[in-house]
Amino acid sequence: MMMSGMGNSRVLIFSLLVLATFQQVVSDEHQPLSKVAIHKTTLALDERAYIKATPSVLGLKGQNTEWVTLQYSNPKPTIDDWIGVFSPANFNASTCPAENIWVNPPFLCSAPIKYQYANFSSHGYKNTGKGSLKLQLINQRSDFSFALFTGGLTNPKLVAVSNKVSFINPNAPVYPRLAQGKTWDEITVTWTSGYGISDAEPFVEWGPKGGNLVKSPAGTLTFDHNTMCGAPARTVGWRDPGYIHTSFLKELWPNQEYKYKLGHRLFNGTIIWSQEYQFKASPFPGQNSLQRVVIFGDLGKAEADGSNEYNNFQPGSLNTTKQIVQDLKDIDIVFHIGDLCYASGYLSQWDQFTAQIEPIASTVPYMTASGNHERDWPDTGSFYGTLDSGGECGVPAQTTFYVPAENREKFWYSVDYGMFRFCIANTELDWRKGSEQYKFIENCLATVDRQKQPWLIFLAHRVLGYSSAGFYAAEGSFEEPMGREDLQYLWQKYKVDIAMYGHVHNYERTCPVYQNICTNKEKNNYKGSLDGTIHVVVGGGGASLAEFAPINTTWSIFKDHDFGFVKLTAFDHSNFLFEYKKSSDGQVYDSFRISREYRDILACTVDSCPATTLAS
Ligand SMILES: [Fe+2]
Repeated sequence: MMMSGMGNSRVLIFSLLVLATFQQVVSDEHQPLSKVAIHKTTLALDERAYIKATPSVLGLKGQNTEWVTLQYSNPKPTIDDWIGVFSPANFNASTCPAENIWVNPPFLCSAPIKYQYANFSSHGYKNTGKGSLKLQLINQRSDFSFALFTGGLTNPKLVAVSNKVSFINPNAPVYPRLAQGKTWDEITVTWTSGYGISDAEPFVEWGPKGGNLVKSPAGTLTFDHNTMCGAPARTVGWRDPGYIHTSFLKELWPNQEYKYKLGHRLFNGTIIWSQEYQFKASPFPGQNSLQRVVIFGDLGKAEADGSNEYNNFQPGSLNTTKQIVQDLKDIDIVFHIGDLCYASGYLSQWDQFTAQIEPIASTVPYMTASGNHERDWPDTGSFYGTLDSGGECGVPAQTTFYVPAENREKFWYSVDYGMFRFCIANTELDWRKGSEQYKFIENCLATVDRQKQPWLIFLAHRVLGYSSAGFYAAEGSFEEPMGREDLQYLWQKYKVDIAMYGHVHNYERTCPVYQNICTNKEKNNYKGSLDGTIHVVVGGGGASLAEFAPINTTWSIFKDHDFGFVKLTAFDHSNFLFEYKKSSDGQVYDSFRISREYRDILACTVDSCPATTLAS
């Protein structure tokens, strides 16, 4: 291990190592951990310095989130001294991936899971060298230690390391997330634990409220560091993802309320249980009942203790999460349309993210889409060759969240939810005419019975439709280049009501539009046929906001440079409400209604009806 306690620090000899591939770790504008120059770490151990963490055992009452208090002292304090949280606690050379070669001491081969400046809550630290700090930890399958560094993030010098802290059962089943299955009457429960298939049998015990409980088996997946496509996911950002279990709860009754618990039966017969959760099953496709859907993109994660703060995730992501949790009894299903947690190759962040959204994802289906920060990596088949996934190339996203895709790697799928049909595309793979995905999109749009499921929604991460984002305007477009070139014919032909996107971190709504032209003059109260598709950018979930171009287009109806999310309400087959809410206060800042009858959906407009014959 690196060291234990404070007194014997000097006798430790560090390995001669440096990351062969650290040069690939580029600072990511969304990921605070990429600011830490781990590979430059040197030693400045001082016997007079210390850092102590209390309590050392967490989760005694079954909690998976706990606060620890740090007390620390550095005889030579500086303004940019910082504290890194490491997990596993032994952040030493023996855990380095084999591809790192031995070069120079000292060496750290893993990034902290989070950090905070030593003077964050101790303003006298610079003068006294003494401080204290409260940090929140989540149960993520391993123990923790805290290290005090001087030299800032770019030139870290290790001064002292704390005692170890651990949850009483680090392997406990945690952070369940629900998803719709491949059929309307199936819900999947996915969770994380430290129990592999040779340790225990995973299952879900569940049943209707007040009814008999049954046990359903769960499958177990994990992934190895060799499945990461590059650094930092393959190097300093790698952290063992544990085991990810999915159980399929089938033959659910429409709108029935169920409760469930996660379990692991150890081979000695002991069962390790999670707490109890509940959910409401999906309505039957076409069923006439109140149905409410929340949609947003680019949520990201932030730490409740103020650590790792970067690019406004702190207000944005946490406020969005809070507002949705507060409204949860009036929400039936959630779609997070890409750029999920911006782990960007720092895998510990996936645990943090599933912990942050647990109140939502454990209660309503939490449906995900693939974004550039999940998938993109050069030479791996992504449509864009950027470094945005930090070397993850889609693997953590595809494994951490279940989606009812034929192939989870492709990440496109459809969901029938009562009077809604959702077609979810993956903008990180080719969508143009002739591609495999184009065929899926057309099939999804074409196979819905609009008399029963009138509300047809297209979802994707990048803006394939319309956006006034400054960066698109700078490229000479108001969309992802080639975005709507082919797809607009499908949206028009199959009369898609609304197409929604993330990626651009703001909110914007268009008129019903086709080929750049508004097909309807109304702005808030649509009656009858829309004659085009309303395009919505809802990428203000939490990541730093994007600027609008200083240009007013004819199709843009409402723009908001703020954090927020959208709620869709289908009252019945004829009445629909769209609301945009700000994350800061949960209030509605933009809305519209659609009132129509079945014949309005059948109505013909430009490019929307098949040929007719004069024959009678
Ligand atoms: Fe994005």
